[in-house]
Amino acid sequence: MLIKSKPYRTIWSHPGDPTITQIIDQRKLPHEFIIVDLAVVDDFCVAIKDMYVRGAGLIGATAGFAMYAAALQCRDDHFAEDIEQFAQLLTATRPTAKNLTWAVNRQLAAMGTGNTVLEKREIAFTTATAIADEDARFCKQIGEHGVSLIREISQRKNGEPVNILTHCNAGWLAFVDYGSATAPIYQANNEGIAVHVWVDETRPWLQGARLTAWELKEEGIPHTLIADNTGGHLMQHGMVDLVIVGTDRTTFTGDVANKIGTYLKALAAHDNNVPFYVALPSSTFDWQIEDGVTDIPIEKRDGDEINRVTGLSDRGEMETVLIPPENTPSANYSFDVTPARLITGLITERGIVDADRDAILQMYPDKR
Ligand code: MRU
Repeated sequence: MLIKSKPYRTIWSHPGDPTITQIIDQRKLPHEFIIVDLAVVDDFCVAIKDMYVRGAGLIGATAGFAMYAAALQCRDDHFAEDIEQFAQLLTATRPTAKNLTWAVNRQLAAMGTGNTVLEKREIAFTTATAIADEDARFCKQIGEHGVSLIREISQRKNGEPVNILTHCNAGWLAFVDYGSATAPIYQANNEGIAVHVWVDETRPWLQGARLTAWELKEEGIPHTLIADNTGGHLMQHGMVDLVIVGTDRTTFTGDVANKIGTYLKALAAHDNNVPFYVALPSSTFDWQIEDGVTDIPIEKRDGDEINRVTGLSDRGEMETVLIPPENTPSANYSFDVTPARLITGLITERGIVDADRDAILQMYPDKR
């Protein structure tokens, strides 16, 4: 996607040295654009845990390249033992996003087919690249399928802008390119369909205000930033035609874990008959867990992310300020689970499917 009219992905191999992976430091966006080099597994772990990179797809792609870095770091004579340890270190960084373990396991399985350490390292590089390319391709396909929903509403409204509400950032910054929830929006915009996006600011990390608003601005898509609690009011007054969100893990029964606050949006959408769609590549499906509410692990992050806010001061400097009284206890649940019954449908790379066990397994007979 575009940054100042120049196309970027969110992760790539250093053009002069493929053993180095480069990423955009998302902690600094939108006010500073900084590219960071990742060389060893520790760099990757910090980048994922401290959210230099975030979003399910990008976490998966980063884990793919991290496993290549791990393969380079493993001792030749203890390769199997070392790679297992690196895999465990990586999977412990963020518990909710399914793409993390999916990418690590895909790398382990791929490397398992190599006969020599050299071969395993080569396979790890090819697999990392394949994971990233596939993520971008699947997101593009999500856009091609999802645009039909927007097109249909646009026709019903005689070309009036389609108002879409999204939560958090399930845009290209959360993936390798295009994004999941935003891909149908970008596709609609390319086709000349008028759209307008309500952007939830998404406390505490403000992925909506900092990242989604920036992405949409760079792509020239009309949007309006709203406080997190605004969606219900807008829906009651007919100001939202469609909700599209992303997901960090979706059970094969259709329950969706996504950024904290998604469940409340789904309840409001349900109460107001607003269609509520979730966009995801198949790498985000969990093919084992049946009950998302009880069994998806929910990450709890440092309470300081709630108590302090960072932004650009009037002096043009990045500043962090404390909001509540000092030492206020805070609980930072990072995700919640929206049960399948509140979801109108899932937009995947294979098409749009009901959030329902039978429908999902019929679309993905090869996966379970
Ligand atoms: O904590 P994050 O920023 O890694 O959370 C991921 C998200 O941005 C959202 O939950 C998003 O809507 C999911 S789409 C990858």
